[in-house]
Amino acid sequence: MTEVAATSALPGRAEEMLAARCELRVHRGAALTGEDELAEFIGAAAGAVTLLANPVSRRVLERCPQLTVVGNVAVGYDNVDTAAAAERGVWITNTPDVLTEATADLAWALVLAVTRRLVEAASFLREGRFRGWALDLLLGKGLQGKRIGIVGYGRIGRAVARRALASGMEVACSDRDPVGDADPPAPQLPLDELLATSAVVSLHAPLDASTYHLLDERRLRLMPRDAVLVNTARGPLVDEAALVRVLESGHLGGAGLDVFEHEPEVHPGLLARRDVVLLPHCGSATRETRAAMAELAAANVIAVLDGGEPLTPVVRGR
Ligand code: DGY
Repeated sequence: MTEVAATSALPGRAEEMLAARCELRVHRGAALTGEDELAEFIGAAAGAVTLLANPVSRRVLERCPQLTVVGNVAVGYDNVDTAAAAERGVWITNTPDVLTEATADLAWALVLAVTRRLVEAASFLREGRFRGWALDLLLGKGLQGKRIGIVGYGRIGRAVARRALASGMEVACSDRDPVGDADPPAPQLPLDELLATSAVVSLHAPLDASTYHLLDERRLRLMPRDAVLVNTARGPLVDEAALVRVLESGHLGGAGLDVFEHEPEVHPGLLARRDVVLLPHCGSATRETRAAMAELAAANVIAVLDGGEPLTPVVRGR
């Protein structure tokens, strides 16, 4: 029977689906973050179900020559060497669509948490400092009539745009590809112009060589004084040390971060700040969404093992 290696226990029906079709091995310990341990675990399997923490590098692919398909349980696949996979004819799949709304919800929650100081206000109350309603207590920033600049106008970016429009914001976007008549419509601006004219900036671009440190210190300082940055995409899109410097200089009004440059480490300069809301990379973390992601990854692997094409490929295999 064909062997499939899953690098983590899988939610929903994913394990059941795989076990019905192949011999499934599941790694249930600490995440396999090293190339050697990952390669050893995958071994002679024909299929692998992987997570973002697993470095599916050229070396891993070379050490696992039987591998024909990798179902990555995430929409992003910056943990996979796609060029090496393409050369070796290994199918790589991701999990788009099923996590769009959950991730957009969390991005929007961060917009509200930062602008309305929700974490700070909740601590204020729990610390017993609430003495009654006051006209100037914990004032935040209003959103209505202001612009949100969405960097990366794909599925998640557009889902955030819908939430922003429902809250009375104006939406503009920046994307490396023409967004055409994307729904909801949004003027597409050069990135620098978008940053310079947005009260809130939300990042939804994939991580690759062209987007690494997309927001460096120069670009962070282009944002208006008091503007807010939200990142639910990938940490390395932002130069985290530069972000700390810009926040410390009082230029920005705050940040909401679900992802970090050196995950799971967080820059100590961020941990200390009250105007920053920090979350542990949980954009897609609803039970329903995580089950749907795992099941989609399983379906992709099964489709390839059955000799067909996966539902959501990012690299075509042979
Ligand atoms: C992804 O899917 O790429 C997220 O970062 C995890 O949901």
